[in-house]
Amino acid sequence: MQSLEDRYREWDGEFVLTRYDAATGSWIFIAIHDRTLGTAAGGCRMSIYGSPADGLRDAMRLARGMTYKWAAIDFPFGGGKTVLAVPRPLEHAERERLLLRLGELIQTLNGAYGVGVDLGTTPEDMAIVGRRTRWVFGLPAAQGGSGDPGPWTALGVHAGIRASCRHAYGSASVRGRSILVQGLGGVGAPLARGLAAEGARLLLVDAIPGRAEALAGEIGAEVVPPEQAYTRECDIFAPCAIGAILNERSIPRFRCRIVAGSANNQFERDADAALLHQRGILWAPDFVINAGGAIAHGSLEVLGWTERRVRERIEGIYDTLDEVFTEAENRGESPLDEATRRAARILSDARASRPGADAAAGS
Ligand code: PHE
Repeated sequence: MQSLEDRYREWDGEFVLTRYDAATGSWIFIAIHDRTLGTAAGGCRMSIYGSPADGLRDAMRLARGMTYKWAAIDFPFGGGKTVLAVPRPLEHAERERLLLRLGELIQTLNGAYGVGVDLGTTPEDMAIVGRRTRWVFGLPAAQGGSGDPGPWTALGVHAGIRASCRHAYGSASVRGRSILVQGLGGVGAPLARGLAAEGARLLLVDAIPGRAEALAGEIGAEVVPPEQAYTRECDIFAPCAIGAILNERSIPRFRCRIVAGSANNQFERDADAALLHQRGILWAPDFVINAGGAIAHGSLEVLGWTERRVRERIEGIYDTLDEVFTEAENRGESPLDEATRRAARILSDARASRPGADAAAGS
């Protein structure tokens, strides 16, 4: 098992602010990966991990993912993420105390990083964090924020699924397509509703008992048990929960044509992208297809765009993915290679045009 020290040695980011919260037995990791494009911004994940080192690793990987996400959409923000590694589900006073503590820590960073919602946290949680710091995205509209990012992310994933269908089947329509959605939380639920409204055939999976059944009743879908998520035959597999679901064990078993969903860090290792590619399964790069929430937060709260412009920009994920798929195919590479190249180009151009870039080169 890898230690905390190993995690720090392996990582290419800027720094991690680490605190142990004795009152709740939780670890707080705020990972700041890269601020070339601007202040770091990314959500807060609250989860139970096997060890603190696993929580740290998740924070580091998620923060790196945010760097690429902001670069891929060419928005002026850097990569950062928070992980709250809790020993058990926290509620009420305990949860509030941990969130206030997080707010205090973010405030000490004095603008280096802004937090928001991610897996395991809610807009209500952010309202609590916001009592201690102004560096919070996604506060309710009444408090000047852009609210829950989930529906915005879902809008972008829907557009990305259409682009994937166009590439794989020649038609962007999802009518009659079987789509398995894994995870029916802030993104998965609105995504499934939107796809069902367009005539797709939904297969729903959730780790929380009863959640898939409830949504299936509402939109007329089939419930699939969690252990069949990776083996069930379908046109599109849409992972909308945890990461690392694409790995050496799951990839050989998939019976789908497309993987396109909102989960961050879908591959366990980057090399797994080649495995999926070899199997002829089209993959929509996670940090491109799931950028809708980031687009909404950044544009509504900082850049001052209208909702209409935001919606158009998020629907533009269709065109971005269309370009990524076409270019990857022309080069004979995986969509991950192509999307990474695009983001890396934005980052290196920004570094080169920075004042003092010559002096800093090579450092
Ligand atoms: N956590 C979401 C994401 O990974 C939404 C988010 C974006 C939250 C940007 C804060 C800042 O994109």
